Amino acid sequence: MKKKLVKQVSTFFEGCFNAEPQHIFLSPGRINIIGEHVDYNDGFVLPAAINKYVCFAVSQNEGTQCSLVAKDLNDNYSFDLNDELKPVDKMWVNYFLGVLHQLKQRGNLKGFNIVFSSTIPMGSGLSSSAALECGFAYALNEIFELGLTKEEIALIGQKSEHTFVGVNCGIMDQFASVFGKKNCVIKLDCNTLDYEYHKADFKDYTLVLLDSKVKHTHLTSGYNVRRQEVEKGLAVIKENFPEVKTFRDCTEAQVEQVKQKLGDTIYRRCLFVVREIQRVLDAVDALEKSDFVKLGSLMLETHDGLSQNYEVSCEELDFLVDAVRNDKNVLGARMMGGGFGGCSINLVKKGTEDELIERVSREYKAKYHIALEAYKVKIAKGTSLYKK
Ligand code: GLA
Repeated sequence: MKKKLVKQVSTFFEGCFNAEPQHIFLSPGRINIIGEHVDYNDGFVLPAAINKYVCFAVSQNEGTQCSLVAKDLNDNYSFDLNDELKPVDKMWVNYFLGVLHQLKQRGNLKGFNIVFSSTIPMGSGLSSSAALECGFAYALNEIFELGLTKEEIALIGQKSEHTFVGVNCGIMDQFASVFGKKNCVIKLDCNTLDYEYHKADFKDYTLVLLDSKVKHTHLTSGYNVRRQEVEKGLAVIKENFPEVKTFRDCTEAQVEQVKQKLGDTIYRRCLFVVREIQRVLDAVDALEKSDFVKLGSLMLETHDGLSQNYEVSCEELDFLVDAVRNDKNVLGARMMGGGFGGCSINLVKKGTEDELIERVSREYKAKYHIALEAYKVKIAKGTSLYKK
């Protein structure tokens, strides 16, 4: 699948620019086992890069002209390196411009030609945008020898999203895309950016993603509003408990004590965050002990918290999780990523995946008239140069 993608992108590049690309880069999407909406709350997350990629065919040129070709969208965009960079109407272009805006301040760039194509489904919560930002930053870092570290690349991707795309996202997606390691999940401390790899060995179980195929339009606004709510919540908590610096050092009991002051909505948001941070630690422990029953039940608790307290799920995702709740072959399931649509992630007994996919697809179709898509993903390495 990877080879086919590389071949297609290279051939397309040759068609566009009458020469073979000098380099090929692959940048993966990500899953997240647990730790949702806590990356911007100083929590821990447990993501991994997957074998779905944005592929970039790249050559530098001697001038200052830059050409971007979006093969899948049949669209392109050209500009001069010396142009003033600001967000444009074509959304996909902004992921590039936001990165370039920062890279221009970091080193000597020249013109370049890029063709890209993706096997990461868009809008499914698998972070195709982070893969795009980080893959592009990674590619320019290599070809122009900018000397950026992987951490800087992830941070540049995140900032591009804040400044040119308008999503006030955390660092999880970009970090996972860049730091992914084959067959490993990353336990990332979002406060310090310290990280450690844990073996993603689920023994008799495997991960299956069920894509609801819905993407509710309030994703961006809903996400940014959640950030404001928890910021307000944390300010109230700190006022009352000066020893608390971040959600990391806040207890459930403290949240309970200021319940009245927080008001119902913000109280529920804060409660979710404090519980979710703890759940990630418990999940890592369960993974280390191969206690998948425990891991699965934590995933379900996360879903219920995201749905009822953080309110970032939606009817379709709740349906997908409810559909597997009492299935003896599924130990856990939850909505994954920013929410308001996208995928659920399921911990499923090996050998029963197809049966499960078939059943849930049928039930989902009957209820919503939508054809579910399922992905059996593998955990892969992060953004890299593809050796031809
Ligand atoms: C999106 C954001 C991430 C993270 C998740 C929710 O994917 O880009 O930073 O906040 O939502 O966990």
